[in-house]
Amino acid sequence: MKESNFLKENNAQHMWHPMTHPQDSLDNPPRIITGASGVRIQDIDGNDVIDAVGGLWNVNLGFSSDPIKKAISAQLDKLPYYSTFRGTSNDAVIELSYELSEFFKPDGLTTAFFTSGGSDSVETALRLARQYHKVRGEPGRIKYLSLKKGYHGTHTGAASVNGNANFRAAYEPLLPGCFHTPSPYVYRNQFNETDPEKLAHLCVAAMEEEIAFQGANTIAAFIMEPILGAGGIIVPHESFVPMVRALCTKHGILFIADEVITAFGRTGAWSGSRLWGIQPDMMCTAKAITNGYFPFGAVMLSEQVVDVFENDKTGAAAIGHGYTYSGHPVGAAAAVACLAETIRLDVPTNAAKRGTQLFDGLEALKAKHDVIGDVRGGRGLMAAIELVSDRETKASLDKKTPIRIQDEIYNNGIMVRVSGPNIILSPPLIVTEQDVSDILSAIDAGLSAAMTS
Ligand SMILES: Cc1ncc(COP(=O)(O)O)c(C=O)c1O
Repeated sequence: MKESNFLKENNAQHMWHPMTHPQDSLDNPPRIITGASGVRIQDIDGNDVIDAVGGLWNVNLGFSSDPIKKAISAQLDKLPYYSTFRGTSNDAVIELSYELSEFFKPDGLTTAFFTSGGSDSVETALRLARQYHKVRGEPGRIKYLSLKKGYHGTHTGAASVNGNANFRAAYEPLLPGCFHTPSPYVYRNQFNETDPEKLAHLCVAAMEEEIAFQGANTIAAFIMEPILGAGGIIVPHESFVPMVRALCTKHGILFIADEVITAFGRTGAWSGSRLWGIQPDMMCTAKAITNGYFPFGAVMLSEQVVDVFENDKTGAAAIGHGYTYSGHPVGAAAAVACLAETIRLDVPTNAAKRGTQLFDGLEALKAKHDVIGDVRGGRGLMAAIELVSDRETKASLDKKTPIRIQDEIYNNGIMVRVSGPNIILSPPLIVTEQDVSDILSAIDAGLSAAMTS
């Protein structure tokens, strides 16, 4: 590896970073991460901190999962690549498809379509949803519904169902036929409703109204995250997802669960769908499927969707979709090992316990720091603090203060993520009680330091 001066001089000089202004990366060079082990990362200046971001919601088992590393390395030696396009398969992906069908049986999902990541998975689900209706003889079902504040990635299809202008406006016009309904965001909502259950009913009523307005027979699918992640950890009332599922069933609309973050234990359940007690028609997964060690994803399909495709006799179900890296043998080998480790470690149990500790600790910090307007989470290891300049009016902070807070928390030994007004926490699911306590202490100290400097 090149020496540290070279790396610092060239940092962000010859590449653009996602999700920021190019000039921002030049003015505020990104931290250079050079190593990691367990739940900790090391930077080029020798700082060693707990990664409370968990990579990017994906390194659920931490950075030292040897079985996954060994599986990747062994697969690279044996078969580093082969395609799964018509006519060929590979041993690793066949094994993975079997393991996933077993794992997702309680979600009613039997069959996988492999992708290279979360946006690919969303794109795949959206496309297959339209095709499903064409195969069934309802070709007019082409529209998509989704939630405002939802995040589904950045492909044009995914951005079109995204519910946040930051990921949309610069890239318009997006896909026609995408419509958004209110999300069950208790802290701020158009209904001024503070009761989570009442808000859930209002949001479902708005969705039903939109379905009636569009015409159910024009809508292919509804997509949502079981807990909205990048939009700021919006946890719906427990009645919400079952009501939405029922509404979709009633109107013949496919329910796509975007579980790119929530599958494999993050919510304290094995999947977000299981958390809420529903079965989706399709589920998008990626991220923790390989613990972030290899870009990979899978769309899981329900038996009923699979039946429609597999029973087609007209040729309409021929799949004109797929990626060079669909079913990549190295990714598949990584996923087989990762799934076995995820199950062996029973990560949802720890995620639930440590998630409660984290949420309770953040609530306690809210009592101490006026800059915390809202604390969200409480379902596994995904939590957010929404920062405000005034608790009464809920007015936002200036743009620089959250970054200053993030830096001060880092100086206290913890990496957190700032997204708009939110500090988002999604640590590895193997964090200990001490790790969570360290995360909370650093946030406390960081907030104090940033708000007095
Ligand atoms: C719910 C959800 N869907 C889709 C995506 C897109 O995944 P990727 O960045 O791997 O394309 C993300 C990424 O964070 C996500 O959180």
